[in-house]
Formats: sequence, structure tokens, C-alpha cells
Amino acid sequence: MKVLVVGSGAREHALVWKCVQSELVERVFCAPGNGGTGGMARNVPIAATDVVRLVQFAKHERVGLVVLGPEAAVDAGAGDALRDAGFNVFGPNRGAGRIETSKAFAKSLMRDAGIPTAEFETFTTPTPAKAWAREREGRVAVKADGLARGKGVIVCGGADESDAAIDAMLVEGRFGKSGATVVVEERLDGAELSLLAITDGVEVIPLAPARDFKRAGDGDTGPNTGGMGAYSPPLAVDGEVVDDVVNKVLRPAVRAMAASGNEFRGVLYAGVMLTKDGVRTLEFNARFGDPESQVVLPRLESDFVALALSAAKGGLADHPDLRWSNRACVGVVVASANYPDDAAVRTGYPIRGLAEMPRGVLVFHGGTRFDTERGLVTDGGRVVTTVGLGDTVAEARETALSGARQVRFQGAFFRTDIALEAVV
Ligand code: AMP
Ligand code: GLY
Repeated sequence: MKVLVVGSGAREHALVWKCVQSELVERVFCAPGNGGTGGMARNVPIAATDVVRLVQFAKHERVGLVVLGPEAAVDAGAGDALRDAGFNVFGPNRGAGRIETSKAFAKSLMRDAGIPTAEFETFTTPTPAKAWAREREGRVAVKADGLARGKGVIVCGGADESDAAIDAMLVEGRFGKSGATVVVEERLDGAELSLLAITDGVEVIPLAPARDFKRAGDGDTGPNTGGMGAYSPPLAVDGEVVDDVVNKVLRPAVRAMAASGNEFRGVLYAGVMLTKDGVRTLEFNARFGDPESQVVLPRLESDFVALALSAAKGGLADHPDLRWSNRACVGVVVASANYPDDAAVRTGYPIRGLAEMPRGVLVFHGGTRFDTERGLVTDGGRVVTTVGLGDTVAEARETALSGARQVRFQGAFFRTDIALEAVV
């Protein structure tokens, strides 16, 4: 079978890497791919949002499965168009993708389905939004309704901060149309957990849990990013916690989506906080996480393509149980100077050191590109994720860090404390 993976990040490189290991697969394509996917799949120069050309290409190659990577492809309607053309698609239609693309939609779905989440209100004008935040002494999270590449949330510690965050979105238009509606919610405290589940719209099969490190700097300092590293399994997350999230969050969400006429097929990602009062849902994503995929997929021993195909076809009820490695996995993102300020990130710098990786390091490329004259160069904010597996988190972490230290390009930086919390 031929498989088409849509997207160009390290998540997609990990997906391509997993797909090529499948016995069902004859060939893998990646649209548009990056400097890493080109080494194990054929990169196809079609943007993840160019729905018309994705359909044309899928027809031309008669692909047996399409895996949607980024939310932009979901939001562009790639799922709808490819399904309408008769393809097996692992990834939701645009309507179901609203669970990620509209925070207001996601919050009201949670309210209606009784899914535990922070108390919230939705606003389009600043005065009532500020008043709601002030009633909570400014201890709130202000969230742009629409997509903002993981950066549209401002967590506030006082009324001055909440006023400024609300003004930034509703008055100054910081996130453009995405921030023209905001969700303001009570600020929660606790450890975070990313639990991703495969679903065919009815059945829900959780993947191994992971924890993502969202802030740019060591010690959780600096701005929120798309994620600077992750590890699996996270500290203090046992089977009971996973069951709790599956039963209170993921299953009710999948049921509510189906009941609303937006059946969800693909990966549903629940970002939750483990508070002293129990689990609370922070967000849903309609796709795999990045960098969570880079640490979850290496632990999966089952055939991913068979799993994705079952979900795409609506046959998960008959799918065998997933097999997981007991080993821990840690991933460290090596980023470009100024990330996550995309406007200030410069690209095109040669990348050195990838040929001399220590034993056992997996390298998943994100923002890289192969230049015929200069070889591999940087092409984005998050450049590569170096990944290590180990019998302990400590061992996996050492391997991932030894890889990150080898990656050299102008302005490279990475966090040195990914998964450190789990090292005894
Ligand atoms: P989201 O995109 O909604 O997951 O938010 C991004 C990040 O902001 C989360 O991973 C949390 O670290 C933080 N965050 C979001 N909502 C809250 C909240 N209600 N209380 C505290 N932190 C939050
Ligand atoms: N790592 C967070 C995300 O993929 O949204």
C-alpha cells in the first residue's frame, strides 16, 4: 500500500519513520515534507493546505491511506475532500476539527458533555472580559478563540496582566481574527499531561501518555512555544490516571462529537491538568502532538499503519490491543534563535553534526530543508528533535541530550531540563 503523510514537522518525520516500518507499506510520500522525511519517503512539493493538489496526487498514486499531520490541513478541509474522493483518511473533517480550531466551541462542548474543565466565559468586547477576570483577581488564562500555533494563551497572575492580555487580543488584534473572540478561564495549578487517543468516531484507544514542556526556557521560563521537548511515560501518571482521562474526557468528547453530527476520526489529543481537585481539560487538539509524537511513536510496537487504517475505516472495535515498549523515551527540541517569535527567526543556516550522532539517538527533522548547494539547512523555529530510549528516564534523557549537543547551527538552543523532574 502507498501512504501519504501530510505535513512538514518533526511530528510528520516521526510518522513517516513509523509508516516505513509497516509490513503493509510499499511506499511513503510526504507533502511537503522536510530535509529528514526526504531520506526515507518521497517528498512531494504540495503544501499541507493545498487540498486540490493533495486530492489530485492521491488519485494519481492511488494511495491506500492518508495521514493528516498539522491542524492547518484539517482546517483547510483536506479530510473532507480526500474522503469525498473515496480515500481512507486518518484525520478528522473540518467540522470535527473545530474541537481544536475554536476554543469557544471546545469549551461549550465540554460544558454540554460534562467534561471537567476550568470555569470560563467567552467574550468579544474588552470591558466585560476584564470585569470577569478582575472578579478572580486576574488569576485567569486568556485564550484566543482561533488557531495561534500554540501561542495564543496568556496565563495571568494579576489584574494588570489580565487587562493587558485582553487588550492585546480584543483591542490591539495581536492574533488577528483568531483573537477577535477570547475565552477567559480560571487559572488552574497542577502537572500537565498529554493523552492522545486513536478513534474511529466510536471506539477510543489511548496511546502512551506524555508530558510536553511548553515554555521556551529552562525552569519553565520564557514565552509559550509549540513545545520544546517531551517524555513518556510521565512522572506520577499510572494506569488509573490514564483510565480517568479516557473515561471522563476522551470518550465523552468522541460521543458528543458524533451526536453533534461531527464524527471524529483520527487522533484526538487531550491536554489536561492534574489538579488537587482531579483532572481538568485544558484543550483538545485534532491531531498528533509535536513533540509528543516523537516520544510516543518510538514506544509503540504495534503496526501504526494497520491501526490508522482501522480508524479511518471505522473498524477499531476489531483491532488487536496495542503493544508498548516498557522503555522510557525523551525528546529534546533544538530550536533557532528567537523561537517562538517566528518573525524574528532567521533560516538557511547550515546544520552540522547529524552524521556524528551518539549511538541510539533518533533524530526527527522539523524545520530543515535540503539545499542542493549547501546541504541541510535550517528552515524554521523548531529545527530537529533528538530522541533517546532507555531503561530509565535518566538514561533516555542522557541519550537525547547527547544528541542535542551534537546538533550545530547558528543560534541553536535547547532546554537542558526536559524530563529532569522524573530523574531520581
Ligand atoms: P492550551 O493551548 O489551552 O493548552 O494552553 C497552552 C498552555 O497554557 C497549557 O499547556 C498550560 O500550560 C497553560 N494553560 C492553559 N489554560 C490554563 C489554565 N486554565 N490555567 C493554567 N494554565 C493554563
Ligand atoms: N505540543 C503541543 C501540541 O502539539 O499542540
